[in-house]
Amino acid sequence: MTNRKLTRAKYFFEDSEIEHLTEVPADGNQRMEETDASKVIGKPVSRVDGYNKVSGSALFTFDVNLPRMAHARTLRSPYPHAKIRRIDTSKAEALPGVLAVITHENTSEIPWYFDSFLFDPHLRYAGDEIACVAAETEAIAERALKLIEVDYEVLPFVVDTMKAAEETSPVFHEEGRLVFGEEITYERGDVEAGFAESDVIVEDNYTTQAAVHNPTEPHCSVVKWDGDKLTVWDSTQGIYGVRDEVAERLGLPESHVQVISHYMGGGFGTKLETGKYTVMAALLARKIGRPVRIALTRKEMNLAVGNRPDSLQQLKVGAKKDGTLTAMTTTTYGAAGAYRHRAICYWPIMTMYQCANVQLAAYSTYTNLGKARAFRAPGHPQGTFALDSILDDVAEKIGMNPLEFRLKNYAEIDQVSQRPYTSKKLREAYELGAAKIGWTHRRKTPGSDSGPIKRGLGMASQIWWGSGGPPAAVTVKLNNDGSVRVLAGTQDLGTGTYTILAQTVAEVLEIPVERIQVTIGDTAVGPYCPMSGGSMTAPSVTPAAQDAALQLKDALLSGAATMLEVSEENLIYKDGVIHTASGEKEPLGIADVVQRLRERTLVRTGLRAANPEGFMIQSFGVQFAEVEVDTWTGKVRVIRIVAAHDIGRTLNRKLLENQFHGGIIMGMSYALFEERIVDESTGKVLNTNLHDYKIPTIADTPEIDVITVPHSDTKANSMGAKGCGEPPIIPTAAAIANAVYNAIGVRINSLPITPDKVLNALNA
Ligand code: MOS
Repeated sequence: MTNRKLTRAKYFFEDSEIEHLTEVPADGNQRMEETDASKVIGKPVSRVDGYNKVSGSALFTFDVNLPRMAHARTLRSPYPHAKIRRIDTSKAEALPGVLAVITHENTSEIPWYFDSFLFDPHLRYAGDEIACVAAETEAIAERALKLIEVDYEVLPFVVDTMKAAEETSPVFHEEGRLVFGEEITYERGDVEAGFAESDVIVEDNYTTQAAVHNPTEPHCSVVKWDGDKLTVWDSTQGIYGVRDEVAERLGLPESHVQVISHYMGGGFGTKLETGKYTVMAALLARKIGRPVRIALTRKEMNLAVGNRPDSLQQLKVGAKKDGTLTAMTTTTYGAAGAYRHRAICYWPIMTMYQCANVQLAAYSTYTNLGKARAFRAPGHPQGTFALDSILDDVAEKIGMNPLEFRLKNYAEIDQVSQRPYTSKKLREAYELGAAKIGWTHRRKTPGSDSGPIKRGLGMASQIWWGSGGPPAAVTVKLNNDGSVRVLAGTQDLGTGTYTILAQTVAEVLEIPVERIQVTIGDTAVGPYCPMSGGSMTAPSVTPAAQDAALQLKDALLSGAATMLEVSEENLIYKDGVIHTASGEKEPLGIADVVQRLRERTLVRTGLRAANPEGFMIQSFGVQFAEVEVDTWTGKVRVIRIVAAHDIGRTLNRKLLENQFHGGIIMGMSYALFEERIVDESTGKVLNTNLHDYKIPTIADTPEIDVITVPHSDTKANSMGAKGCGEPPIIPTAAAIANAVYNAIGVRINSLPITPDKVLNALNA
């Protein structure tokens, strides 16, 4: 058994460096070098759960249907800001088929966010939870909501991000108008001196819209009590997080809560938080003694479970004629919505390019709208849009090619911590991507195409974390027929966790993927793994699976040595068969060893090792966009995106392409279509469905090329992989915006780039 130790270990979860006391292998994980011997890792293995998905046998939370299951629906505030004076649920309760109604009056005060409750009579946005009804059917529950009588004290509200910072706007949290009651500032070097030595200075303002995650599967939970033990099926990005939070809210031991999420229809950050609805369903289920299913409607998903916060960014950038960046400043505003969230977007300007003098101030305001949440690379698409837009304008002013300008300011080390990176292959990515898109053919003069339809090329870079880290544990169970069961407390959001775990174990044990079954998404079964966010899953869980499989291999070798009466050094493990080096004894298959064991199974649990000290682990990439702008209609069509990234080793090319295609389409959607529209006079969101909240169809989808710089970052972790879920969305909007500029010669500094903005800019 590998030695283990409890130690303080660090990892990056998005922009926060987190340090935990955690158990890790004392000698680290064994590096899996990239060699030709790699049979499974790096290969385009089809999803091991593909059959289940395609046949419909995969059970998503939305599909869970238990005997005697009741259905719950939630009453939400119609006002952006109000207090409940009186609530009367008697008519609703009297409706045939209604089983129970819960409100703040008949539930204990369960804390939620920092200064409110699960049901808080102080309603802070149109969508805040007021009551929850359990009924025989969803339709009855829905009808019952209309019978709940509420007397509201309607209060003044604010939905505009900037107005929310003003002295006259209503305050509805203890800490005031700003999240944490404060501005965030950062400074390095001396920006005054930096601007003084610059030859050109560009100043501009950029705005980005609030966008909603809208994963395919609605947020939902199905809950069932057995005495005082609770089983929760939940569509979540973190089964352990839900377990701990539900246990805490309900005052249960963690061992009494089992959270299951076998299949999940996407999250993008909105399912990182435990839902109020899960706890409400548990309270109702306990009250009525029946299982309860609660599924949010698309409208609720567009109101109440998060968004990418909007931004207003005021940038100023100075550079020398030779292209050297001398100073950058930004002041950013973003709306947290009604509850605490840091609506920030300044990390790209702090870290993407080399610049000695940087200063920023950031304000997150409280508005009477649904709370923002982490959304696929929180802050980065909006920050990158502003940064890479202004850099193109600076490059133009000094007459430099945008790519050359970025290479001139290439950051060799982390600009904030001054630490080296474990690897950075952005230069190679620039080169590969530029060649693929044909960057040399980019129009030198923006807007120079003749005719109404003009084409342009643009680019933008990305930096992201995605290091993963401990704690993460994976158990591998070898059966006496040589088949393997992998158990881990991780989850598959649709990203391919099942497949990469099977691949990792298959690679180490040198057996076919088909001999491996993976069980994840169940806190009662798998050992602890982190939530799936921050592009952490692959780099966190695959090293633990590798560690477990290596331990198994060691055990098999010692067993074979005993059985064959040879020393272990004289044994060779190849393709799941153990041979004597001399060939004197009959080879033993791994099943042969297990069959002779009294236990009839061999079980090992592997752990994720600590990240290396003193390094930054980041992914990097560039996206090139080619667009076509119709200057008569203002419509932008994205023709092509070339993505070239350094994300370490590619574990599975098919899964990687899925992530990139999804991220790029989502990024294009953010660039051109998506926008949460709020009515200023009523404080209501107007487009709470997928008809009015526009997302692209396949007809809008460009040709996409995905390039990864071939290398393996085994300094970062034993598998050499960095997370790739978030990187592809980051530079997409900025690259498209720069391509639009190149096409028409007019800068659009507001997302989404809709036809009206294009036409107005052309006419100005
Ligand atoms: Mo993500 S926003 O870390 O799911």
